Amino acid sequence: MTSAARPPSATITDPDHIPVLLNEVVEGLALKDGGRYVDGTFGAGGYTVAMLNAAQCTVWAVDRDPEALERGKVLSEAFPGRLHLLPGRFGDLADLLLEQGINAIDGLALDLGISSMQVDDRSRGFSFLRDGPLDMRMEKTGMSAADAVNTLPESDLADIIKRYGEERHARRVAHAIVRARKNRPFSRTIHLADTIRAEVRRSLDGIDPATRTFQALRIFVNDELGELERGLSGAERLLSEHGRLAVVSFHSLEDRIVKTFIRDRSGRSPNPSRHRPAANDGRKVATFEMVNARASTPAKREVRDNPRARSARLRVAERTAIPPLTSVKGDVA
Ligand SMILES: C[S@@+](CC[C@H](N)C(=O)[O-])C[C@H]1O[C@@H](n2cnc3c(N)ncnc32)[C@H](O)[C@@H]1O
Repeated sequence: MTSAARPPSATITDPDHIPVLLNEVVEGLALKDGGRYVDGTFGAGGYTVAMLNAAQCTVWAVDRDPEALERGKVLSEAFPGRLHLLPGRFGDLADLLLEQGINAIDGLALDLGISSMQVDDRSRGFSFLRDGPLDMRMEKTGMSAADAVNTLPESDLADIIKRYGEERHARRVAHAIVRARKNRPFSRTIHLADTIRAEVRRSLDGIDPATRTFQALRIFVNDELGELERGLSGAERLLSEHGRLAVVSFHSLEDRIVKTFIRDRSGRSPNPSRHRPAANDGRKVATFEMVNARASTPAKREVRDNPRARSARLRVAERTAIPPLTSVKGDVA
């Protein structure tokens, strides 16, 4: 952070969304005046506003949800010339930025998953607690959750529910879905949630049995893990030397991908990529340095004030001068 003159501060676009690990992310990015940063998951603009207030920098804010960026237009006016809203996916970051004439950045923040606005808006169909259309598409295009449960073969549904929801009873849930859809195709969240609840009992920790299947369908419909992998490769290609990558994840599937990527790219993986060349002295070539060896987690107070922060984990890494290991298309070079 620097002491340069600050712009008038603006607030985020939805007071109900509390940014998670905000101070830690801003600190992790080590923002500098004149720097070029990307908030890959704009949401309510919590990180973006904090980044713009922390330094006299420019931020490109990306979101695949058209509603999030529509709400964000007021912030562009509060930071004239310093905030650029980019509709699209962070998995396509290199292309999105190239269209803006940008081929290098000083920092990238990713706050994975969905926002409170998306969960709370029943018309988006993310919540198993509020009835709404069974949709779950962040972009509002492509295959919806209803399309998936009404058309996929039972074995595919079971795989998705197992892999992305880590649901022990995935086969039973998939079977129940296929049985139910023969009588009445799914179109509402509550129909799906009740079908799952009739099949799987509430666990001792009180978690709603629909939680894991809803998570699985959301990840599948939005290809969230594929996006994350492409986003991390993009960060490797776009970040300048000393540029920082800060990623907040909310479940073990995401955190595993981030942790493995950073470990591998910083040469600390026990089984490094077979594509990684070794330096002349035998040391592993590292495109990143780990900034926090262990993931940062929210303090008790943050979790008390914002239960959504409960499972958050932040990992930060700094780009070295070594050329990226992936080509522009994301293939290993
Ligand atoms: C947890 S919220 C981010 C909240 C934000 N950090 C804030 O402080 O307001 C995640 C946002 O990222 C968006 N998103 C998720 N995956 C994305 C992707 N692959 N590309 C672009 N945006 C994505 C969602 O639409 C949502 O608005």
